[in-house]
Amino acid sequence: MEGLVRMTFPQIDVAVRVVDWQSAHGRNHLPWQQTRDPYKVWLSEIMLQQTQVSTVLDYYGRFLERFPDVSSLAAASQEDVLALWSGLGYYSRARNLHQCAQQVLRNHGGVFPDRADLLVTLPGIGRSTAGAIAAFCFSERTPILDANVRRVLTRLLGFASDLALVKNERTLWAHAASLLPVTDLVDSMPRYTQGLMDLGASLCVPRKPLCSQCPLQSLCVAYREGDPEKYPVKTRKLVRRSESWWLLILKDRAGRVLLQLRPSKGIWAGLYCVPVFPDATSLMALLSGSSFSNISIENRAPFLHVLTHRDLYLHPVVAECDAEMVPQDLGDWFAPEQWGGLGLPAPIRKFLDSL
Ligand code: ADE
Ligand code: SF4
Repeated sequence: MEGLVRMTFPQIDVAVRVVDWQSAHGRNHLPWQQTRDPYKVWLSEIMLQQTQVSTVLDYYGRFLERFPDVSSLAAASQEDVLALWSGLGYYSRARNLHQCAQQVLRNHGGVFPDRADLLVTLPGIGRSTAGAIAAFCFSERTPILDANVRRVLTRLLGFASDLALVKNERTLWAHAASLLPVTDLVDSMPRYTQGLMDLGASLCVPRKPLCSQCPLQSLCVAYREGDPEKYPVKTRKLVRRSESWWLLILKDRAGRVLLQLRPSKGIWAGLYCVPVFPDATSLMALLSGSSFSNISIENRAPFLHVLTHRDLYLHPVVAECDAEMVPQDLGDWFAPEQWGGLGLPAPIRKFLDSL
């Protein structure tokens, strides 16, 4: 019977091939694959959204040691959560993570919902992440469509419609749903979900996909056409802006540095940072204030920091002074031993460590 069904509906073959390939060639020993605890799986998925596996491995273990369950995370201060996240970047993830934990406690009695359509209502959990958690932890028959999977599926199906349009994106989701496994869901849903991710990460890569090793090759439209790299099609270009920031690194005689908490919105929200100025003039205006005397000022080489929608050109100005000269409300002084425990943007931490 199964052979007959397979021949009649090639899409069933897709799932079987992905599942078989995942068992033999996929990643099966990552720490978050050894559990069905939605807290741990959720944490891994959020970390993996914009960060590669090798980096996440390090942070994941440390994070779980400190916050072993959703209630300990919910009870933490945002400052402590950001400090532990420091260096992973995309800090809105950490703020959403914290809020999500609090919502799970407040609205769901401390238990993660067990369905994708409920998970997606929580902060920081998009449709694909919700699908991944539901498939991994609860074997729900629900699709995912992250960037890797979007690439695999558009190629496999020869889906050439522009994904900048919501209606096309919606159609691709429907295709993704139609390809899901139909048997043995308890085992096949997690494997299939992981298998699509693994295919996108190891074989069906953006440039020069390794089609000769791919379990989907004989079904793949893009392979047959001869130009897989033309998928996925997405026209809208990111509008990148560039901006210059002047950083005032105030150092006192003891080597402490003045840091202020960033506002709760915008770039590096909620993190500690040195004072930032939009231009050199406003920075110098502060230093020429009456309270400062006898300070040494040194311009350091500017450097580029690339954010999702912005290129930030950072211009560090290092000034040594007595702490008493500095207006109280400008920030607080932190010694180098304290920097490790603070949520600092990675480029700022790197610069301070190089002082
Ligand atoms: N990226 C997103 N989710 C992942 C997972 N479960 N394993 C490996 N990489 C991933
Ligand atoms: Fe991607 Fe090539 Fe496999 Fe098609 S055959 S899914 S293009 S790796």
